Amino acid sequence: MIVLGIETSCDETAAAVVDDHGTVRADVVRSQIEEHRPYGGIVPEIAARAHLETLDDVIRRAMGEAEMEFAALDGVAATAGPGLIGGLIVGVMTAKGIAAAHDLPFIAVNHLEGHALTARLTDRVAFPYLLLLVSGGHCQILVVEEVGRYRRLGTTLDDAVGEAFDKVAKMLGLGYPGGPEVERTAALGHPARFNLPRPMKGRPGCDFSFSGLKTAVRHAIEALPVGELAERDVADICASFQDAVGDVLDDRCARAIATFRSRWPQGDTLVVAGGVAANQEVRRRLEQLCRRLDMKFVAPPQGLCTDNAAMIAWAGLERLARGDVDGLDFAPRPRWPLDPDAPASRGAGVKA
Ligand code: KG4
Ligand code: ZN
Repeated sequence: MIVLGIETSCDETAAAVVDDHGTVRADVVRSQIEEHRPYGGIVPEIAARAHLETLDDVIRRAMGEAEMEFAALDGVAATAGPGLIGGLIVGVMTAKGIAAAHDLPFIAVNHLEGHALTARLTDRVAFPYLLLLVSGGHCQILVVEEVGRYRRLGTTLDDAVGEAFDKVAKMLGLGYPGGPEVERTAALGHPARFNLPRPMKGRPGCDFSFSGLKTAVRHAIEALPVGELAERDVADICASFQDAVGDVLDDRCARAIATFRSRWPQGDTLVVAGGVAANQEVRRRLEQLCRRLDMKFVAPPQGLCTDNAAMIAWAGLERLARGDVDGLDFAPRPRWPLDPDAPASRGAGVKA
């Protein structure tokens, strides 16, 4: 089976062609970074227009790379939520159009499920597994029990971790998006120079909080002598911030692993996914944690951590294999939690 996947929920316009052996036959990602850069963040109207203007070409390129005609596909999958509604509508309408024209099944994919199932595309990880989902909009720990069945163990009470990276980068005058800039700059700094808080560390449960850490970074910057921030200061702040994030993720995941082991004894793997999983220091810390606690650790390649359509095509394949397809009346969902039974909370990390 071969599926075309389409991703337009945020600031990447992406299309990919993937088969059920896990071969990614094409994977095209067009980033909108240049369009949003002057504003230092994503502007929803600009995102929607850019998706509309570029998606057809991105799909054409993916089909060309895969050397396929639409009629030879077994299905068309598109991210139908959660995300920015303008982009979701563009992707979903396009997918439905292709599906209707070629009489193919349409699969509405939850973006978070795309991230969650990527480890099965890359590493064939068996259910159940523990998932740390860390991106610009989400920061959750979930148990992936089955396609479509998730149990949330923890979430952020305020900011998502990727959002904290982006805001720290902005405060330091680094570029957008902030995560990769902070990581690059942190490599030149001393993590012990600034004594930053580790919010939620040692607390029961698996929830996160990052707004206090972000505020502490602002105070650390304000306490420095007035004038231009020295390169040394910027590097040390980045390193100290990244170290604090690493400590928090370590603590929260250690607790989640204990819960996972007691309630899902047949599971043995921690998977990390989402844009922040591209961070080498985050990966190193989690790998170390898993070695210490005797868990397997899986982190997809960097290009499959940040937003892409291969993960959407793969989630579509997993659903299609179960006969789980959607009608052409499926409406995009700006909010779409993976675990509908988890209590609603506030904050960016719980947009889903
Ligand atoms: O998964 P993603 O591409 O989009 C969302 O679904 O949110 O994640 C984007 C987020 C941004 O906040 C970005 O700064 C962060 O992931 N990110 C990183 C790195 N690369 C991307 N954060 C830390 N280190 C990185 N290398
Ligand atoms: Zn994402």
